Amino acid sequence: MAVDLLLGLQWGDEGKGKIVDVLTSDYDIIARFQGGPNAGHTLEFDGQKHVLHTIPSGIFHEKTINLVGNGVVIDPVIFKKELENLQKHNIDYKSKLFISRKAHLILPTHRLLDAASEASKGKAKIGSTLKGIGPTYMDKTGRNGIRVGDLELENWKDKYRALADKHEKMIQFYNVNVQYNLAELEQEFCDAVDTLKELQFIDSEAFLHRAQKEGKTILAEGAQGSLLDIDFGTYPFVTSSTTTAAGACTGLGVAPNQIGEAYGIFKAYTTRVGSGPFPTELFDEDGETMGRVGNEFGATTGRPRRCGWLDLVALKYAVQINGITQLIMMKGDVLSGFEKLKVCTAYNYQGEKIKHLPYNIEAKNVTPVYTELKGWAADLTGMTKTSELPKEFNDYVEYLEKELQVPIKVVSVGPDRKQTILR
Ligand code: IMP
Repeated sequence: MAVDLLLGLQWGDEGKGKIVDVLTSDYDIIARFQGGPNAGHTLEFDGQKHVLHTIPSGIFHEKTINLVGNGVVIDPVIFKKELENLQKHNIDYKSKLFISRKAHLILPTHRLLDAASEASKGKAKIGSTLKGIGPTYMDKTGRNGIRVGDLELENWKDKYRALADKHEKMIQFYNVNVQYNLAELEQEFCDAVDTLKELQFIDSEAFLHRAQKEGKTILAEGAQGSLLDIDFGTYPFVTSSTTTAAGACTGLGVAPNQIGEAYGIFKAYTTRVGSGPFPTELFDEDGETMGRVGNEFGATTGRPRRCGWLDLVALKYAVQINGITQLIMMKGDVLSGFEKLKVCTAYNYQGEKIKHLPYNIEAKNVTPVYTELKGWAADLTGMTKTSELPKEFNDYVEYLEKELQVPIKVVSVGPDRKQTILR
């Protein structure tokens, strides 16, 4: 069986948690392949809201196996809190949650290094979630990291000490004011490691190969979005992992020719949290309305998200890089009430009209060229069929399909599982 992918196509927060949850009943295994607790995947059902950071979004389904792949970075402290939340809701996770031995661990000092690095950058800061993601991937690629499998070895604490001591020296090097009590943080870390060790650590690539051979269906769940990809995003205002399709291969050990469907998920408009270029960003009442109606606050940090019109130039780029085969459009309901909708179809760049993302995409270099479409007034949140949706909404979707050359198979009209319309 091929492995299907679900990828965010913008700057994250597209609603992957909800869609994985909706799609889960079609899959035996849901596997996270990159990122860490910088992600916040929100799921709503039975009148309750759940936010997952590291644990795959299939965990609420009874029979689904959930795998945290080798490409993920795990903070045991945050992981433990996620587990406690599952316990509160009587979710029996022990039998269906597996962790790759090759996944790297976020140490308390990684978080401190993240804070020190951001503080030292001043106005040029990335706007990191400060979860230690960048420093942990730096230690991974620098070949200094500690992996989940190391926790099964007797000497892991020696390795830990050497790395944490090195980090403390690095924190001093930044020469910024970062307050901490390492003894306390380490106690919390060690307690959380003990909880983590109660879970099943596995050689996940072998596990997935076997599952494929047995005909099991697998969905690889991405975190963040294509425009935050370490290579193809708006560097340096990106995260530190490969958020695009290729990340599923390296983050799970799946060969490229084993990839099946690539579902791409995007919002009917655009948002971004943290710093960095955002050509269609709005600073007016329209942007304010999108933020308010769409409840655009980060699920991990609570920061307000920046909002703007849909950027088709950026979306086409993401579709291309990921080889998207089916699209899913989220939050169409948030656009209800706008008389006119704008879609960015090109950029004015250095006196030229261009249709690709230039190397230097800073706001002062790029101004969006918009196409206007008619809006709709109706509240979509109670609608369940395409035929009930306003003509202008369907026109908007069809316009995007034509531009992107990929079918939009699902539209979401509210946060609940049930507010999902298949086309
Ligand atoms: P980091 O990955 O926490 O270091 O953050 C790097 C950049 O990616 C910042 O601009 C964050 O706001 C952004 N970012 C990281 N994770 C997410 C996410 O899950 N959703 C949206 N933005 C994110």
